[in-house]
Amino acid sequence: MAAHCEEQQTILEIWGQTPLKGEVIISGAKNSALALMAGSLLCPEDCRLRNLPSLVDINRMTQVLGALGVKIERNGDILDINAQNIGKSQPSYELVSQLRASFFVIGPLLARLGETRVPLPGGCAIGARPVDLHVRGLQAMGADVRIEHGEVHACVKGNRKRLQGAKIYLDYPSVGATETIMMAATLAEGETIIENAAQEPEIIDLADFCCSMGAKIQGAGTNTITISGVERLHTTDYSVIPDRIEAGTFLVAGAITQSEISLFPVVPEHLASAIAKLQAIGPKVVIDGPNRLRVIPAPLGGTDIETLPFPGFPTDMQAQFMALLTLSEGNSVISETVFENRLRHVAELQRMGADIRVKGNIALVRGVPFLSGAPVMATDLRASAALVLAGLAAQGKTIVQGLHHLDRGYDNLEEKLRKLGANIRRVNVLSGEETKEYISAS
Ligand code: UD1
Repeated sequence: MAAHCEEQQTILEIWGQTPLKGEVIISGAKNSALALMAGSLLCPEDCRLRNLPSLVDINRMTQVLGALGVKIERNGDILDINAQNIGKSQPSYELVSQLRASFFVIGPLLARLGETRVPLPGGCAIGARPVDLHVRGLQAMGADVRIEHGEVHACVKGNRKRLQGAKIYLDYPSVGATETIMMAATLAEGETIIENAAQEPEIIDLADFCCSMGAKIQGAGTNTITISGVERLHTTDYSVIPDRIEAGTFLVAGAITQSEISLFPVVPEHLASAIAKLQAIGPKVVIDGPNRLRVIPAPLGGTDIETLPFPGFPTDMQAQFMALLTLSEGNSVISETVFENRLRHVAELQRMGADIRVKGNIALVRGVPFLSGAPVMATDLRASAALVLAGLAAQGKTIVQGLHHLDRGYDNLEEKLRKLGANIRRVNVLSGEETKEYISAS
């Protein structure tokens, strides 16, 4: 059944103010896994990816690779990919429009085949999301790029077979553009330097993955990345990093329910800005070893947050922290600087009694003593997590609708919360029965 129909049929019911306790296992990072799956197109041999999260977005990317002729097999959290025989076929607009990250296949396809067509992804719930920086980067490397009939048609110019190394300055440190250019440069002739590159942990993970296949990449995680092109990549077996956004969401779950919970596995440095903000709000975050964090609750106070590229505060944590600040004493100002339309959860939080005023991309949050459960609608992926968090803290019952957003990016969220003691269940609205069925990608 189509995701859109199922979306109407399943809801989450949350009875709030139940304390949480225990340890939660953090899944592999969605955004890394998607980039690595695109990156596997660079390699004509077997690639094994481990620690894949179980998500609709991952299923969609699997479909995109399948449509390109890739042999792909999933066993639990392991994905075996063989892109030896990729053809000139292309992913459909329907697929790309449902998963923006599938546009990122353009870099590896162009590098491997010398020519490709990929539909333009279009806008999404959080803004217009152009791909001009991806396109300009590929052009700088000698690609002829045209947009025709809603598709980006890219081919290596002239009689050359390979892209050429180039010096590329990004006007903005875009995660996706850095990934596209890095992947394309891996098989280019000569050296490519990306200046003002994104520094997110997912960029390092993609670079490490490509290097495990024989790519030569230096500087990933800094603002200047140097890639020396190689002719061919080889087989690899690689494990995806833990999801820092999922981990951050659980830190907030502890803080908002005044509960002590542990998270494992995590890379604490990936969460530095979220941890700093949480501690500014009140709760303590303790590093219990190299891969484990514990949140210790405390009274909540207001703070100001501005979303920025890494190592700044992540836009993907903004909605969850807003939920927390609605219950923090005093005033907080949240500035969303990365995406133009990422405050749509405000109206839903207001339905639960939050006191928030919005001007442009700035939200003024005045802490209230309590939220009250209400029916709410998820407006995007991270907004859906924010509403679940608010529901965990609210008085009475909250009903979260629009679960197709949640299932895109959270691996078994309610199951993990339930193990911690949350009173939460997924219900089929037609039957009124509890269901464990997540919204599928088909
Ligand atoms: C990735 C993440 C997403 C996260 C975002 C910012 C994936 C699959 N998604 O998205 O979860 O919220 O990073 O951390 O990894 N921009 C342009 N032109 C471009 C590209 C981007 O103007 O060619 C703008 C965007 O509209 C946006 C800003 O740059 O305003 C940041 O976007 P970008 O870093 O590219 O985000 P994504 O890679 O799409």
